[in-house]
Amino acid sequence: MKKLNFALTLSALFILAGCGASKDYTPPAGATGEQIFSTACTECHKPLSANVAMILSEKVANKDAVIKKFQSGSMRMPAFKNIQGEAADRLAEYVLTNSEVK
Ligand code: HEC
Repeated sequence: MKKLNFALTLSALFILAGCGASKDYTPPAGATGEQIFSTACTECHKPLSANVAMILSEKVANKDAVIKKFQSGSMRMPAFKNIQGEAADRLAEYVLTNSEVK
């Protein structure tokens, strides 16, 4: 029973620290995908080289999944709720054309 409580506390801490985190960053009108990426994402996603922004897993390597990822966030990634519409399209296109799929 003690062990179970410990495990529950740990997962609660994880959830508090990670999920629900969000960033208020709003892309300026007309910003390119590259500009948005270098302002909002490179804090955590350091580009691997001039042409490789990220390494994507196969299941995330499509436009819908990339947009969902940055709008909803995940365990250790904040949600960017203000990257919407055309800005979201441009950012997703930038990520997809400049990433390697593993
Ligand atoms: C505070 C750090 C942080 C920021 C800022 C951040 N990310 Fe992430 N991102 C992560 C982490 C950590 C992961 C991997 C673990 C996970 O999915 O929770 C990740 C995963 C991803 C993935 C999935 C990769 C895969 O193959 O599974 C995509 C796509 C992504 N990020 C795009 C972005 C974009 C686009 C931005 C900018 C709008 C961004 N991230 C900003 C931390 C961050």
